[in-house]
Amino acid sequence: MYVTAIVLAAGKGERFSDKLPKPLAKIDGRPLIFYCLKTISQHRLVRDVILVVNTRVRDSIAGIVKQYRIKKVSQFVTGGRRRQDSVYNGLKAINERTDLVLIHDGARPFIDNKAIAAAVKEAAAGGAAIVGVPVKATIKQVIGHRSQVIGSLIVKKTLDRDNLWEIQTPQVFSKDLILRAYNKFGNREVTDDAALVERLGVKVRMVKGSYSNIKITTPEDLILAEAIAKESIRKLNL
Ligand code: CTP
Ligand code: MG
Repeated sequence: MYVTAIVLAAGKGERFSDKLPKPLAKIDGRPLIFYCLKTISQHRLVRDVILVVNTRVRDSIAGIVKQYRIKKVSQFVTGGRRRQDSVYNGLKAINERTDLVLIHDGARPFIDNKAIAAAVKEAAAGGAAIVGVPVKATIKQVIGHRSQVIGSLIVKKTLDRDNLWEIQTPQVFSKDLILRAYNKFGNREVTDDAALVERLGVKVRMVKGSYSNIKITTPEDLILAEAIAKESIRKLNL
């Protein structure tokens, strides 16, 4: 089974900072992007890593790959306007031998080996598998859009939490399936890759991940990241 990873680091990081590019922010003294690259590239199931970047961070990330001796990075690809455009650019760069494509947000530093292995295994068996965690919060459906500032928002109903999951990355797909999904539905706005595969009518398998697999979105997220990094450095011997 030949697994190619696409790691996304081409976002603008607008909610993070207008000065410091998010992939370069330091967590426990190391760049944010280092963590997931290390885990993914060291994973025995991953054969090739494609990094999707923008021109602003390209050279710095290339420097990090070199400095931290990150293996298996075969290409730097330029990202697009939306996340899904960046993924598509990555998909166009995968090699012929690829059986499975693992897509991961570079903004999630703390993906672990177990989740990667489980998602790859499930995708190998069923074509598509994603990592997520059961939601902890009570979730209600509300009438009116969240951006609404004037007038009341009214609760429609409380959703049954027992079958609600918060979706993370990685998401793993057979090459044919993800290419088919992107070619057919890639223009539709989605917030994850599996949404496009779901549209093909394919059953996407869910793998239980970890609550530590946080996404760094705003500067406050770094506070929790510092604590998780210290723990994962100890565990992974980074
Ligand atoms: N991403 C990307 N290309 C884009 C947009 C996002 O590669 N055009 C990547 C980001 O680099 C990140 C992941 O998708 O690893 C998740 O996106 P998000 O957390 O929203 O990061 P940004 O888009 O960079 O941040 P913001 O939305 O605040 O600008
Ligand atoms: Mg974004």
